Amino acid sequence: MSNVYTVAVLVGSLRKASINRKLALALADLAPANLKLEIVEIGDLPLYNEDIDVSPPAAYSTFRQQVGAADALLFVTPEYNRSVPAPLKNAIDVGSRPYGQSCLSGKPGAVISASPGAIGGFGANHHLRQSLVFLNVPCMQQPEGYLSNAGTAFDEAGHVSESVKPFLQTFINAYGQWVEQYKKV
Ligand SMILES: Cc1cc2nc3c(=O)[nH]c(=O)nc-3n(C[C@H](O)[C@H](O)[C@H](O)COP(=O)(O)O)c2cc1C
Repeated sequence: MSNVYTVAVLVGSLRKASINRKLALALADLAPANLKLEIVEIGDLPLYNEDIDVSPPAAYSTFRQQVGAADALLFVTPEYNRSVPAPLKNAIDVGSRPYGQSCLSGKPGAVISASPGAIGGFGANHHLRQSLVFLNVPCMQQPEGYLSNAGTAFDEAGHVSESVKPFLQTFINAYGQWVEQYKKV
């Protein structure tokens, strides 16, 4: 039997009706058999502060443990002011410390962004990739994941439209191969 890799999914939006959360759940449904996607919640993480990390809050420790236990990372994010939403950047900062003990390092990753706008969160997607280079998270290059005009991609229950589904399937299948390939090295 082939390996099944657990994927910690970090969603950059905290709102209940988030398009990006629906996108993350749709990707979990469409994932190939070698991937098990699980959202790791980031909304309760206190803003990163080295002073409080001397004796880490339980939320930091739980997050680090959950991400650390995963084989791979998937970032699903909106764009805020052409960059990464603060909660997601905060989660990455929390995960990156203590220095030298990052729970993110070395895990194969991928980024997909979604926006009701026309450029699909391109700015957030690439700002995030900049941090991931430094954090030693090898990111899938192709296919790139930008979901534009995403306001109509999901119904209220989170079902993905038939026109978007093939792109999501291609993306998550490629990610399954990326994780497999990386883990074999
Ligand atoms: C503070 C803020 C900044 C935003 N900036 C951008 C932006 O730079 N580019 C963009 O395409 N959409 C921007 N938006 C609109 C979001 O793409 C839109 O609210 C989207 O639905 C958020 O994702 P979500 O549905 O997963 O919460 C912004 C929204 C907020 C609240």
